[in-house]
Amino acid sequence: MSLLLGVNIDHVATLRQARYAGMLDSPNAEPSPLLAAEDARVGGADSITIHVRGDRRHMQVRDAFEIREKMELPLNFEMGNTAEMVAMALKLRPDFVCLVPETREEVTTEGGLDVDGLYGSLQGTVAQLQQAGIKVSLFIDPDACQVEASARIGAEMIELHTGCFANAFGEDRVVETNRLKTAAELGHRHALQVNAGHGINLQNLPALLTVPHLSELNIGHTLIARSVRVGLVTAVREMRAAMEGYQL
Ligand code: PXP
Repeated sequence: MSLLLGVNIDHVATLRQARYAGMLDSPNAEPSPLLAAEDARVGGADSITIHVRGDRRHMQVRDAFEIREKMELPLNFEMGNTAEMVAMALKLRPDFVCLVPETREEVTTEGGLDVDGLYGSLQGTVAQLQQAGIKVSLFIDPDACQVEASARIGAEMIELHTGCFANAFGEDRVVETNRLKTAAELGHRHALQVNAGHGINLQNLPALLTVPHLSELNIGHTLIARSVRVGLVTAVREMRAAMEGYQL
């Protein structure tokens, strides 16, 4: 099967909130995350990712339900492990949930989820979501103990955090690529679906495509940034084309 592309459209909501956070019912409130999801689909996205954060800085609850109701693609719902978000996911019924760490101060999701350390508090959430028919992914750093803990807890998927990889250059990039390779091999041995995300762009993609066993890449920032110049349909198409031929 070819490598799938999940498009994260949170930044479309970030832009809308910058002007209309207090006037979301206004007919002027734009851009629309739903229309962005449609553009991503036309460009070749395989799924749409959104993250409703505790502080609601970009996606709002109503965005999530509108996208779920009107969009054709599978929905990947990123969320922190809180009672509020579990309740919301159980109502929203996305195809997948990706559990991520969340703190109010961070600019974006900065590190992986400590599945090993938080095992007790995550176990119930994973089971509850799975019982509702939602597949669970865990956003983790590419470390053996986190991969092992993700397998032990019974998640279907892991998403390897590629932030360190993306921000490393030269020899450091080689080291980070090797970390991803080792973690992907281990995840595959445990029969986990291995995804990757964070900071991926057209420049670092070729190195990432040397990592084996990848099923899906989740990409947001660079696609929305590029869409300012060429539109989201073209930006997604370019990324899709660059992912072609992945065979590991
Ligand atoms: N995957 C996860 C779990 C994330 O939290 C994010 C950032 O919201 C992404 C992928 C996408 O990262 P980026 O916007 O850097 O492409």
